[in-house]
Amino acid sequence: MIKIVVTGANGQLGQCFKKVKDDYSDIKFTFCDSKNLDITDKERLRLFFNKNKFDYCINCAAYTNVEQAEKTPDKAYLVNGQGVKNIAEECRKHNLVLVHISTDYVFDGEKGSPYVILDSTNPINEYGKSKLKGEQYIKEILEEYFIIRTSWLYSEFGHNFYKTILNKAKEGENLSVIDTETGCPTDANKLAKYILNIIISDDKDFGIKHFTDGIAMTWFDFASEILKKSAR
Ligand SMILES: NC(=O)c1ccc[n+]([C@@H]2O[C@H](COP(=O)([O-])OP(=O)(O)OC[C@H]3O[C@@H](n4cnc5c(N)ncnc54)[C@H](OP(=O)(O)O)[C@@H]3O)[C@@H](O)[C@H]2O)c1
Repeated sequence: MIKIVVTGANGQLGQCFKKVKDDYSDIKFTFCDSKNLDITDKERLRLFFNKNKFDYCINCAAYTNVEQAEKTPDKAYLVNGQGVKNIAEECRKHNLVLVHISTDYVFDGEKGSPYVILDSTNPINEYGKSKLKGEQYIKEILEEYFIIRTSWLYSEFGHNFYKTILNKAKEGENLSVIDTETGCPTDANKLAKYILNIIISDDKDFGIKHFTDGIAMTWFDFASEILKKSAR
């Protein structure tokens, strides 16, 4: 049995892990949310990891409000930087493989074609900078880790663009969506399965991975796709 702890488990991606968990009978899951395991609380983490033994930690805990991070960057750095450092240190102490989720916001978006792992990072906002800090701590502290960079997560859980568009359409609201930004929408349920397949296949190709499951499109295209699918 592979023992996994999922942190930040009440967020969008965390809830996707809870949804797919029954498809993975070889894995014993422990789900921790921000209330019972705050990743910025070092002492709490120390006690928790001393008491409970795991093989992997999947860190879904993050400060994800991109606009708010500009106003309160300290909060973003506390969770996405220091919190990730705390988790990485516990993983090192107890020999856990860390699977951490990162973002396309570590890039500046100027490339004009899909980013690959070897591209230089250059975040242009506080959220992206705080997520890059988390990546840097992991690389300094651990050898056995996966940093999975993804983009535009959507699912039936949490707050996301997909749900916002569907709700607005249901309420008959007029929609105004920009077509100046391009990205790859990613089904968070597929991301959860991708991560669990890395784990059950005992992948040792540690380091950074990029995962998206859709084609590149603008927010306008994405909104149009969502409305087309919901009308079927
Ligand atoms: N959503 C996207 O479009 C997107 C795109 C690319 C990458 N990502 C990355 O994917 C990961 C998962 O994103 P998501 O969409 O699932 O985000 P989410 O729905 O905002 O979930 C994040 C979770 O982290 C928890 N959290 C915040 N501070 C914490 C702390 N100090 N200790 C423990 N838990 C804490 C939150 O709990 P509370 O609500 O109680 O604060 C929330 O449940 C994140 O690393 C994010 O950066 C997301």
